[in-house]
This record gives sequence, structure tokens and C-alpha cells, in this order.
Amino acid sequence: MVTCAIIGATGAVGMEVAKCMHSRQSTFGPTAPALYASPRSAGKVMSTLYGDLTIAAFDVDLVNSSSYDYIFLAVSGSFSLEWAEKLTNGGKTVVIDNSSAFRYHDSIPLVVPEINLAAIGPDDKLIANPNCTTAIAAMALHPIHAKYTIETLIVSSYQATSGAGEPGMQELLEGTRKQLEDLAAPPQPAKMFSHPIAFNCIPCIDKLQDNGYTKEEMKVAWETRKIFCAPDMKVSVTAVRIPTLRAHSEAISIQTKDVIDVAGVKEVLATAKGLVVKDDTANDVYPMPLTSSGADNVEVGRIRQSLVFGDRGVEIFVCGDQLLRGAALNAVLIAEAMEGRKA
Ligand SMILES: NC(=O)c1ccc[n+]([C@@H]2O[C@H](COP(=O)([O-])OP(=O)(O)OC[C@H]3O[C@@H](n4cnc5c(N)ncnc54)[C@H](OP(=O)(O)O)[C@@H]3O)[C@@H](O)[C@H]2O)c1
Repeated sequence: MVTCAIIGATGAVGMEVAKCMHSRQSTFGPTAPALYASPRSAGKVMSTLYGDLTIAAFDVDLVNSSSYDYIFLAVSGSFSLEWAEKLTNGGKTVVIDNSSAFRYHDSIPLVVPEINLAAIGPDDKLIANPNCTTAIAAMALHPIHAKYTIETLIVSSYQATSGAGEPGMQELLEGTRKQLEDLAAPPQPAKMFSHPIAFNCIPCIDKLQDNGYTKEEMKVAWETRKIFCAPDMKVSVTAVRIPTLRAHSEAISIQTKDVIDVAGVKEVLATAKGLVVKDDTANDVYPMPLTSSGADNVEVGRIRQSLVFGDRGVEIFVCGDQLLRGAALNAVLIAEAMEGRKA
């Protein structure tokens, strides 16, 4: 039986990893995961689809003494930098890391299983999961890239508060509740975000870089190039936090090397894995956070020829549950595929 542990099990991503593992039981078949979090959560009982499980405080020796087959890391970049390599336990354990700590290391595979599983070599024990905005866009972009070769991407994102973890969602809910109690009152002070998020949107996610883009925006550029093996792809992103709970949306302008048309794009997207085409604008059918929340597949729609790039460009809108496609599900699919390779 495959054995797994989730470190950061009480967080937004960690909780979804446990659900995804359970929902993929028939193909992946792991036993109930061991759950670890900070000392604050030690001894707490978490209700999961496997039943009630008790959380242990993270301790590297304790974790390594169990020699898990797979560890899903869902804490922070600094935590992963300190512990991820040690948790591979001398090659006994595969560690799949949700943080950005190792995504840009040449020797660490950065993987979306439907796209570049081949990047994982037989001896790789540390695998990086991509940024959520990157992973959601990549699901729709890769089939287009494979057929038409994307040269330029211009992306505007509309990112849910759960992108900042469980506390991000709480801040939206609390801020909204307090504001509705007294519409004339000043907004609740922000903790997780740089400004109040209720009834607002914030066009700045993560740290500002020297080039005027934020790190979140550059992550999409760096990671898309790495996953697609397309180092020359031009990518410009504006990442915006909006007051939704779950699922990120992205408006994407695509310029291609080859001539491209809407019918051809719809054809490749219709058969691509992990995607659902929702493109009937006349009948109000298009991707939305409400419909993509909790769904494994990324929604793609509003597919139209670009007025700017003409016959070498299209516009699309994508929406995906970033806790699933952009984190937990992607990580579990990686483990499932690695396990499948052994069979
Ligand atoms: N949220 C997203 O949409 C998303 C998407 C892709 C990737 N990611 C990445 O996934 C990681 C987790 O994000 P999240 O959104 O799930 O964060 P979160 O909701 O804030 O959860 C953080 C988790 O880390 C645990 N933790 C904190 N310090 C710890 C320590 N010293 N030892 C062990 N566990 C510790 C927390 O446990 P306690 O409850 O005990 O404090 C909690 O379980 C981050 O690296 C994030 O960048 C997030």
C-alpha cells in the first residue's frame, strides 16, 4: 500500500490534498495520510474523508522514521528550503512541494502531469508543483502551443483570496460581514493583504520586483517558459486579487507563430485532458469562479479571434480552482503518475 504524509495539513492546500488523495483512491490507492502541521495544531483532530485523523507537530526525525512513499509539502517557501531535501530521506521518499522554493532550480522538475511528466527522471525525489495562476493557464495554453506555437502571452489575472491560504478567505469573510453591519464604517484593517479586500480589488500580489512587475506576475512568466520548454516566449502578466473565495480567473491574449483560428482552437481544447470548454457567450455560458470552484477541470471560454494580433492571435478566458488544479490535485496527480510508472 502506498503511504503518504501531508505537511501543512491544516492549511488551505493541505486540506485539499487529503480530499484529492481520497477521491483518487481507486487509481492511486494510498492509505489514510499522516497529518503534520505546526506545534499550534498538535493533537487536534481533523475530520477527513478517511475519518477523524490526529495532527502531529512536524518533526523531521519523526516524519523520516515512517519512510513514507510520498510527502506533500504545503507550508511555505522558507520551510521547504529548510526541510524538503532532508525529507527525501536518503532517496526513500518522493517530496512534492507546493511552495515556490525549488521551481526555478534547473535540476528540479516543475511539473503539470498532463504536460511535462517526462521532466521527472527515474532518480528524481524532489518535485516542484507550479504556481496556481501558471498551472491553470497552462492547461489551456499548452494544447494551443503544441499546435500553433505561442510567441507572446499577455495575461490579466483575477485571483481569489484563498490564494493567500485559509487566513485570506477568513479576512474576506470577516471584512465583508463587518462592512455589511455598517456600510458607513471604515473598512476592516487588512492583515493578509496590503489593503482591505472586501468590496475592493488589489492590483499587486507578492513582492515588487526591480522591473516593476510583482513576483506573482514573474512566476507565471518563469514557470510557463520552464514547463513548456519555451525560453523565448514573451510573457507579460498583471495579477490582481479580487474578493472571491476560491478559483482564479485569467484573461489571456495569445500571439502565435502560425496562423490560428477559433475553430481550430476549439478543436484542440475540446479533446485536451483536464479542460472543459464553456464557450456559448450568447447563452451566458463562459468560465466563472462560481462554476469552477471545487471542480478538477479548468474552464476555458470567450474564445475569439484577436482584434490586435489578427490571424496570428486569439483571446481566451480561463477559470480554475487554484487549490485543486493549481496545488493539491496537481500534486496528487504527480504522485499517482510516478506510482503508475512503477507498475
Ligand atoms: N493557497 C493557494 O492557492 C496555493 C496555491 C499553490 C501553492 N500554494 C503554496 O502552498 C503552500 C501552503 O499554502 P496554503 O495556502 O495552504 O497556506 P495556509 O492555509 O496558510 O496553511 C499553512 C500550513 O502550514 C502549516 N505550518 C505553518 N508553520 C509550520 C511549521 N513550522 N511546521 C509545520 N507546519 C507548519 C500550518 O499549520 P498550522 O495550522 O498549525 O499553523 C498550515 O497547515 C504555500 O507555500 C503556498 O505558497 C498555495
